[in-house]
Amino acid sequence: MKISIISGSHRKVSQSEKVARFIQRTLEENAVCEEAWLFSLAANPLPLWDEGIWASDRDWEQRLAPISAELASSDAFVIISPEWHGQVPAGLKNFFLMWGKGELAHKPALIVTVSSADGGAYPVAELRMSSYKNNRLCYIPEQVIVRNVERVLNEDAAQNDTEADSYFRERIAYALNILKEYGAALGQVRASGAADLSVFKNGM
Ligand SMILES: Cc1cc2nc3c(=O)[nH]c(=O)nc-3n(C[C@H](O)[C@H](O)[C@H](O)COP(=O)(O)O)c2cc1C
Repeated sequence: MKISIISGSHRKVSQSEKVARFIQRTLEENAVCEEAWLFSLAANPLPLWDEGIWASDRDWEQRLAPISAELASSDAFVIISPEWHGQVPAGLKNFFLMWGKGELAHKPALIVTVSSADGGAYPVAELRMSSYKNNRLCYIPEQVIVRNVERVLNEDAAQNDTEADSYFRERIAYALNILKEYGAALGQVRASGAADLSVFKNGM
């Protein structure tokens, strides 16, 4: 099992990436999967989508091919989104435009949202409403909203609110175990052939 984590903050230093690295360590230490790959959108590694992607532009192909290979070989995903102005950051929405060749299709994803205060619900709703139609990512019903993020999941225990920190560590481990089981289960859906992407290339 390979689980890939997408950290959706554009900031060079972000709380989302802190949470992403914590999740990567948890996956490895709890042996939830054999491989945990992390892709961070820090400093915008992907330019905004343009038609060159459809025209097999060489720069786009070179840029996307290594990421595409990592995604295509994944069984499940963790999508981490900070709440920015009550939204998912534009770079994360841009990321979802890139993958229409089945890299994410019919694979489960756990939504993890991040807020420095008591926000975090808006990006959950936005991801569930729009982000999966053509790439056909399957969000599982479990989700994690990391509120007051500066006070939890820090490596230095002195920076943590003890009660909130242990709650989020337990909750994340629980959600990752559920994600793993969906990862195994949805492999059967893809193997069945019923979800043949050549029949209807795009979702409705
Ligand atoms: C442009 C911007 C807008 C933000 N808007 C919100 C918001 O609407 N709601 C919220 O709870 N936090 C908001 N925040 C604070 C984030 O929750 C905080 O930065 C948190 O650390 C997650 O973002 P990060 O992963 O980029 O660090 C905003 C932060 C930025 C940079």
